Amino acid sequence: MSGDSSLPRHVAIIMDGNGRWAKQRGLSRIDGHRAGAKNVRKVARAFADHGIKYLTLFAFSTENWGRPQEEVTGLLHLLSHSIDEETQRFHQANIKLVHIGKPDRLPLELRRKIKSATELTKDNTGMTLCLAFDYGSRSEIVDAVRCIKEGNVSPEGISETIFSSYLDTADIPDPDLLIRTGGEFRLSNFLLWQVAYSELYFTPVSWPDFNEKEIEKALLDYEQRQRRFGNL
Ligand code: FPP
Repeated sequence: MSGDSSLPRHVAIIMDGNGRWAKQRGLSRIDGHRAGAKNVRKVARAFADHGIKYLTLFAFSTENWGRPQEEVTGLLHLLSHSIDEETQRFHQANIKLVHIGKPDRLPLELRRKIKSATELTKDNTGMTLCLAFDYGSRSEIVDAVRCIKEGNVSPEGISETIFSSYLDTADIPDPDLLIRTGGEFRLSNFLLWQVAYSELYFTPVSWPDFNEKEIEKALLDYEQRQRRFGNL
């Protein structure tokens, strides 16, 4: 990876602040998520237009199952609906969809939709849009360890490169830029291994309001960073 590129190859986003955005407007939390889902299309298009090669979005975490049943059901429904609505558009825009996270706990219908969307778009050569559904970094790391053990890899055979190849993100370069909207300053179990050398960008702007202007601000901020990867 080149350290002097002014454009990130991979941008990862923690899309936070939907609930507060809705509350400020007297709306329900699920209305906030609906506005957030609507924004996914615009943001994905904008990053693709900027020439970003990989965009990863944290849409549903392993911890989100702990939210009230009504919100969980609403979020899963939104994900399903968004796949129905957006897959053809993404396909026409040459965007390749991939999924990271555990498929097995998702409703069968949603799993099928994810599978057919990723299958349909697998040969696309534009931006890769990676959707993290039921994703949690610690669970991903524990699963990788289990696979390595089951695969009888010798202790000497385990390297950082080999370990990375057992993660859900095996075919995706590490993020260059991690953005978190919504004003919190934490990683919330997102891509912990992969963001070791990522530039971090936190903005108070809520996810539904994260628009083209905010994208430009984030990319400009990134452009001014000096990435040294531990060197001088
Ligand atoms: C965090 O806001 C956001 C989520 C838990 C879900 C993000 C999901 C979407 C934007 C919808 C669908 C996505 C796709 C890819 C179609 P929060 O509820 O924690 O907000 P708060 O901190 O203000 O309460």
